[in-house]
Amino acid sequence: MAETPRSTPPPATPGPAPAQSPGAPGFRTIYEKSRAGRCAYSLPRSGVPETPADELFAGVVLRERAARLPEVAEIDLLRHFNELSSRDYGVEKGPYPLGSCTMKYNPKINERVAALPGLRDLHPYEPEDLIQGALELMDTLSLWLAEIAGLSRTTLQPAAGAHGELTGLLLVRAYHEDRGTDPHVVLIPDTAHGTNPASVVMAGYRPVTLPSNARGGIDLEAVRGFVAEHEGDIACLMLTNPNTLGLFEVDVVALAGIVHEAGGLLYYDGANSNAVLGHSRPGDMGFDIVHLNTHKTFSTPHGGGGPGAGPVVVRDILEPYLPTPVLKKTGVHQYTLDYDRPKSIGKVRSFYGNFGVLVRAYAYIRALGADGLREVSDAAVLNATYVMAGIRDLFEVPYDRPVMHEFVVSAEPLREYGVRALDVAKRLLDYGVHPPTTYFPLIVKEALMIEPTETESKDDLDAFVAAVRAVVGEAASAPELLRTAPHTMPVKRLDEVAAARNPVLRQRFADDAPAGRSA
Ligand SMILES: Cc1ncc(COP(=O)(O)O)c(C=O)c1O
Repeated sequence: MAETPRSTPPPATPGPAPAQSPGAPGFRTIYEKSRAGRCAYSLPRSGVPETPADELFAGVVLRERAARLPEVAEIDLLRHFNELSSRDYGVEKGPYPLGSCTMKYNPKINERVAALPGLRDLHPYEPEDLIQGALELMDTLSLWLAEIAGLSRTTLQPAAGAHGELTGLLLVRAYHEDRGTDPHVVLIPDTAHGTNPASVVMAGYRPVTLPSNARGGIDLEAVRGFVAEHEGDIACLMLTNPNTLGLFEVDVVALAGIVHEAGGLLYYDGANSNAVLGHSRPGDMGFDIVHLNTHKTFSTPHGGGGPGAGPVVVRDILEPYLPTPVLKKTGVHQYTLDYDRPKSIGKVRSFYGNFGVLVRAYAYIRALGADGLREVSDAAVLNATYVMAGIRDLFEVPYDRPVMHEFVVSAEPLREYGVRALDVAKRLLDYGVHPPTTYFPLIVKEALMIEPTETESKDDLDAFVAAVRAVVGEAASAPELLRTAPHTMPVKRLDEVAAARNPVLRQRFADDAPAGRSA
């Protein structure tokens, strides 16, 4: 294992504050750069006579003064956005081992394909016979996802993983209603992603938490107990596999049997599919519904909750309830959109889903093929295992089992130096790497959740390991350095509570109404 990071040596002590940090002298927002009359474009003089807005929109409530948009020259605009982007950290700058989020590199070929004019310029209102190619692309992607999940039908409509969860739970509801049953309970392990219980509540169900066992997995006896306690009331069990500890749920087939026998369905949160592509399929494990996060597994762009795609794949018994419209093949290279679905849960998103994102997922799967996808998971698991081996002696390992694509360690031993997981994460920023996820899953104290992903080279993994080792070394010798980190970032340690309680979300001007009132 290399002892020093491959990249620039880390700072041992806090460096001077960058001149351009928000709040520091020198940083100016785009509004502060604005000068009346400056403009980043010039248009030819219009031949159409100008008409005052109140004449054009007679009777319509018009704003009293023009919107306050910044007025800057083209070069100011360019510098402004370049400056912002250089302050930002993304996977195109360096490793991004944010556990649970799978921040892997998205190959640029996806962007090229999505930008092909025949795909990019489609309008969702174009008539069916003009978009047969797009429908075929969506149908092919649906079939591939069904094959990957080991199930039979796909809806591409949901716009994110969480949206897929809600869609899946509405399918559970429709299924039970159609059978004249009305169960209320959805079982969810205590390691579940927060969106799982939230989606359960949104779908009108009651989440019941299953405690993990000493091996960080589902406890079959506990499940039997809960099933007996809520006899006749189990709508579904939601499971993530591998779970958010990065551990594979080995008792999954027995589990599926217990829940099915109790009349419930099985929902598989497939957000962690990066670990199992081509190796195991939720359908084969007994699951009935799966959502897949295209932005995690199939290299489409991440976005704060979307716009993305969280396709849902189901067993044939749930097909009648899928959202409308449903894609239907009517002949060779011929497709139609079927709206006549009396048992459908209805639409969950406009049109057919986020088409541009689906094209990227299609391009990724097409480029890699089945063997390539399997290699993705092989490398993701290998990389996580390698990094774990490089740092496990520094931390507590709460569940000592072979890990999948991510792993969780506890920074609890560092508390003797007054250092917490958050301090380790912040100090890592000074070493030029993005920190791992902290304090999740909730069942591990001082959790650091690390997901290197398959797209990092051994050099970068070594650099990450060396950075973590250096930071933990500092925890003993100079803990204050960690507690006050980061020192080299444009934004220093934030008061996260104040930021959440008193968010400042817009620039205010001297003559604006006081904060809290609409201006
Ligand atoms: C295990 C798990 N489930 C569900 C989700 C929710 O997915 P999304 O962020 O697309 O809504 C995530 C997101 O990272 C996740 O890690």
